[in-house]
Amino acid sequence: MKTNDIIIAPSIFASDFGCLAEEAKRIEAAGADVIHVDIMDGHFVPNLTLGPRALAAINRATDLFLDVHIMLYNPFSFIETLVESGADRITFHFEATEDVEDTLAFIRRCNVEAGLAFCPDTPADFALKFLDQCDLILMMTVSPGFGGQAFLPDVLEKVRFVRDVCKKLGIEKNKKPFPIQVDGGVDAKTAVQCVEAGANVLVSGTYLFKGDPTMKDAIDKLRLTAR
Ligand code: DX5
Ligand code: ZN
Repeated sequence: MKTNDIIIAPSIFASDFGCLAEEAKRIEAAGADVIHVDIMDGHFVPNLTLGPRALAAINRATDLFLDVHIMLYNPFSFIETLVESGADRITFHFEATEDVEDTLAFIRRCNVEAGLAFCPDTPADFALKFLDQCDLILMMTVSPGFGGQAFLPDVLEKVRFVRDVCKKLGIEKNKKPFPIQVDGGVDAKTAVQCVEAGANVLVSGTYLFKGDPTMKDAIDKLRLTAR
C-alpha cells in the first residue's frame, strides 16, 4: 500500500485533557488525517473517558474528521447525541450489542460512517458478515480501556484474514482498499507489521503524544515506516 493510502489517527485519549481544544489543534497542525476520540462507559471497559460535550468542544476546535470509538454497552442509544456533537464516524463494539446490523444501519442513516470494532479475542470470522454493511473494521491490538498497553501481535493474523477476504471478494470503499483500522500499542515499529498485514488506518496515542521529538515528526515517521 502506498504511504498516502495510510490514514494516521492520533488518539486524543493520550492528550492533556486540561486543554482539549489546543490538543485538537496540535493534532491538526501536525498533519494527522483524522482525530480518534475514545468514549468509555466504565462497564464495557473498566475506565471512563470523554463524553458528548467534550466531543463537541473538540469539534469546535478543528475541521478534522472525528473518528469516534465507543466502548460502551447499548451503543444504539448514544448515536444521535454523538452525531449532534460532531462525530463523522462512529465505531462500536461487536461484543457490546446484539443489534449489530440495526446499529450499523442507524449510524449510516444519520449520514455518518459506521465502524465495527472487535476485541483481540473475538474471532475474525465474525467480521465477514458485516463487511458490506459498514465503512470500517477495527481490530483492537490491545484489550480496550487503557492507553499505553503492549501491542498484541496475534491480532495481525486477524487483520491479514480480513484483508485477504476483502481482496478476494473485491470489497473496497470509494475505489480504495477497504478501511481496516488497528488501535492499541501502535508505534513506528508495530505500524510496519500492521501495514504489512493489511491495516490502512493506524490509531496511535502514547507514541504520537510523546513526540519523536514532535508530534509531526512522529506522524511523518509512522507514514514513512509504514510503507
Ligand atoms: C484503548 C483506546 C486507544 C488508545 C490507544 O482502548 O481505544 O485508542 O488510546 O492508545 P495507545 O496508542 O497508547 O495504545
Ligand atoms: Zn480507540
